[in-house]
Amino acid sequence: MSLLKQKVVLITGAGSGVGRMTALACAREGARVAVVDLDAASGEETVRLVQATEAEAVFIQADVSQAEEMEAAVRRTVAAFGRLDCAFNNAGIVLDEQVRLADYEEAAWNKTLAVNLSAVWLGMKYEIPAMLRAGGGVIVNNASVMGVVGGCCCAYVASKHGVIGLTKAGALEYAKEGIRINAVCPGGIETPMMAALAPDERDRVTAMHPIGRLAKAEEIAETVVWLCSDRASFLCGSIVMVDGGYTIQ
Ligand SMILES: NC(=O)c1ccc[n+]([C@@H]2O[C@H](COP(=O)([O-])OP(=O)(O)OC[C@H]3O[C@@H](n4cnc5c(N)ncnc54)[C@H](O)[C@@H]3O)[C@@H](O)[C@H]2O)c1
Repeated sequence: MSLLKQKVVLITGAGSGVGRMTALACAREGARVAVVDLDAASGEETVRLVQATEAEAVFIQADVSQAEEMEAAVRRTVAAFGRLDCAFNNAGIVLDEQVRLADYEEAAWNKTLAVNLSAVWLGMKYEIPAMLRAGGGVIVNNASVMGVVGGCCCAYVASKHGVIGLTKAGALEYAKEGIRINAVCPGGIETPMMAALAPDERDRVTAMHPIGRLAKAEEIAETVVWLCSDRASFLCGSIVMVDGGYTIQ
């Protein structure tokens, strides 16, 4: 099966967790992958893992919250592979997640919004023109269950709600030009982000999933591959819950 045969896919935050697994899953489906990450060592390791499967990948170091670096990441992807077909705006952070709103530091707020929300807008801002030049494309933004309910620190929840709004706004504006824009909302995933939680907090989060466990990053990656593929051709502005039932309670 080659759901993404010869497609060029840009993935932000592809050095770790969901981004890395999505890079590998896209490559398995025939895509060429631009691995974008702030961290060179982990990004280059993702490229090595993709290339070990005989697929093509390039590493592009960028802080996606900086406009010129995000613009350069898109430009370098097109320079490497000739076009841009799909993008997964996935890089994200969580800071001071136990700190309540009134005690939350402005610096942590600004940083979280810059990486989780502004960078998704910047990604779309530069990806869309490249996709229009390619005759269309697909964007998937990584939100979270925290994009539809509360339950984490204010900055993370606000940023992820913003990603959903941005997804809908962009989807409406570009639907007629062959660009489909959707978002995934994962529940808790077994990634380094989750490993950073204290064990009792991790147990509490796990217990909130009716399915009785956290997701594997591969399970989010499979959904992103499907959304990028023509199999999802009528999804436009959809907010796809991949959450083990977290939000049906
Ligand atoms: N882990 C979870 O439980 C969970 C749940 C729901 C949603 N998400 C979302 O999934 C996405 C990926 O999370 P993950 O768990 O794989 O995280 P992770 O920490 O394993 O990986 C995130 C990657 O993003 C990179 N990154 C961070 N800031 C960056 C920046 N400014 N520019 C470029 N790269 C940057 C990091 O270097 C890292 O490689 C995030 O948006 C996160 O909010 C995660």
